[in-house]
Amino acid sequence: MAYYLTSFHPFLAAIIICLVFLPLHFSPIQGNTNEGFSINLIRKTSPKIFPQRLRGLSAISRTPQSPISAYLGEYLMEISIGTPPVKVYGIADTGSDLTWTQCVPCNNCYKQLNPMFDPQKSSSYSNIPCNSNLCHELNTGVCSPQKQCNYTYGYADDSMTQGALSQETVTLTSTTGESVPLKGIVFGCGHNNTGTFNDHEMGIIGLGGGPVSLISQIGSSFGGKMFSQCLVPFHTDVSVSSRMSFGKASKVSGNGVVSTPLVAKDDKTLYFVTLLGISVGNTYLHYNGSSNTVEKGNMILDSGTPPTMLPTQFYDQVVAQVKNQVKMKPIVDDPGLGSQLCYRTKNNLNGPMLTAHFEGADVTLAPIQTFIPPKDGVFCLAFTNISTDVGIYGNFVQSNFLIGFDLEAKMVSFKPTDCTKNK
Ligand SMILES: *[C@@H]1O[C@H](CO)[C@@H](O)[C@H](O)[C@H]1NC(C)=O
Ligand SMILES: *[C@@H]1O[C@H](CO)[C@@H](O)[C@H](O)[C@H]1NC(C)=O
Ligand SMILES: *[C@@H]1O[C@H](CO)[C@@H](O)[C@H](O)[C@H]1NC(C)=O
Ligand SMILES: *[C@@H]1O[C@H](CO)[C@@H](O)[C@H](O)[C@H]1NC(C)=O
Repeated sequence: MAYYLTSFHPFLAAIIICLVFLPLHFSPIQGNTNEGFSINLIRKTSPKIFPQRLRGLSAISRTPQSPISAYLGEYLMEISIGTPPVKVYGIADTGSDLTWTQCVPCNNCYKQLNPMFDPQKSSSYSNIPCNSNLCHELNTGVCSPQKQCNYTYGYADDSMTQGALSQETVTLTSTTGESVPLKGIVFGCGHNNTGTFNDHEMGIIGLGGGPVSLISQIGSSFGGKMFSQCLVPFHTDVSVSSRMSFGKASKVSGNGVVSTPLVAKDDKTLYFVTLLGISVGNTYLHYNGSSNTVEKGNMILDSGTPPTMLPTQFYDQVVAQVKNQVKMKPIVDDPGLGSQLCYRTKNNLNGPMLTAHFEGADVTLAPIQTFIPPKDGVFCLAFTNISTDVGIYGNFVQSNFLIGFDLEAKMVSFKPTDCTKNK
């Protein structure tokens, strides 16, 4: 259902300098009628002694997590796959489900700094046969001559990956530093991968809500389908990482937490929430798509898309109000910046606070979360327009919030947090 999203990438490419990746997946997974698949944890607690107490303790100590850092507008998340484990840095993407990495042999791969994953060197690797339900969960799976599941998975910016749908052991690290191996995780071993990837990106980690996503696959092992993310500000050095947490212990709570309901739609992958309006300073602007009424689920939370995208009428109103409140002249003479609203200043931009008024949750954004510096001394509003009525809440505005996705309670929570200190 997110097909419409395929149309705007060329526009995005033109305006977001070197931050051109938009990995919203456009082939929604069908047929998620069964419970999917289960995974087995290697590290089981002994059921013999004090089972309840042990279970409680182990659930906490085994809370899995993953380091995540900023690189050129995307967020790189570290996981290990295979036996012995090999580190993979993939784009953390709440807008798609399939986790994949570039694999040898490469029919067609983009340049990558680290070695590519070699399934032949892993003792836990297995191909999924094409008659498996798992192959049908991805409705683009076809049979290879060897009767294995050959998948193709595409994104809104025309990036795509094609290869063997497989199962592997994925290893995460617990809060106490132990390895947490998760067996039989479905992933794509990509032998034909193209698109706007840079050489640090070894693939994509699918954190959407559909059956094949990492969240759906590991949820039941850790007390439920939930996770939290804390994205560091976009210019943070790649060596500084924050963390993603998975399972029940990732629940976001405490002072300053606000929550908004997730809205269920046909597309199970995407996280839809309802944005009532945006305040620029003290001026409230009502969300304005093609009709004046606010539709439920009019925004997608997407960690794989850098800018926030709003329906054109609404975007125009927000931009006009920002211009009104920033006491500087916008840049008009730099074609490289396209139609973005940008300012030239040596210091950090002294712009207005913006507040995103989600249903039940007001989220206040400082200039560091709304203006990005595409080059030295230039600050651009990290918003753009979209021709649809459903907008995208991009990763820049998600930075410096601990954001909890609770797919069981169907809520998303925001807590202002310095993510550079969220170790
Ligand atoms: C890669 O996939 C694309 C899209 O399916 C296809 O057109 C192309 O022939 C493939 N290339 C190779 C080398 O398999
Ligand atoms: C997967 O399908 C593509 C064409 O769709 C083909 O080029 C490729 O060789 C196939 N790969 C395997 C492993 O069968
Ligand atoms: C929404 O946008 C339309 C078209 O620009 C405009 O006519 C209308 O007044 C706007 N509505 C609100 C509530 O701002
Ligand atoms: C964005 O706004 C510009 C200027 O109003 C317009 O020309 C363009 O078509 C819009 N883009 C989309 C995707 O709606």
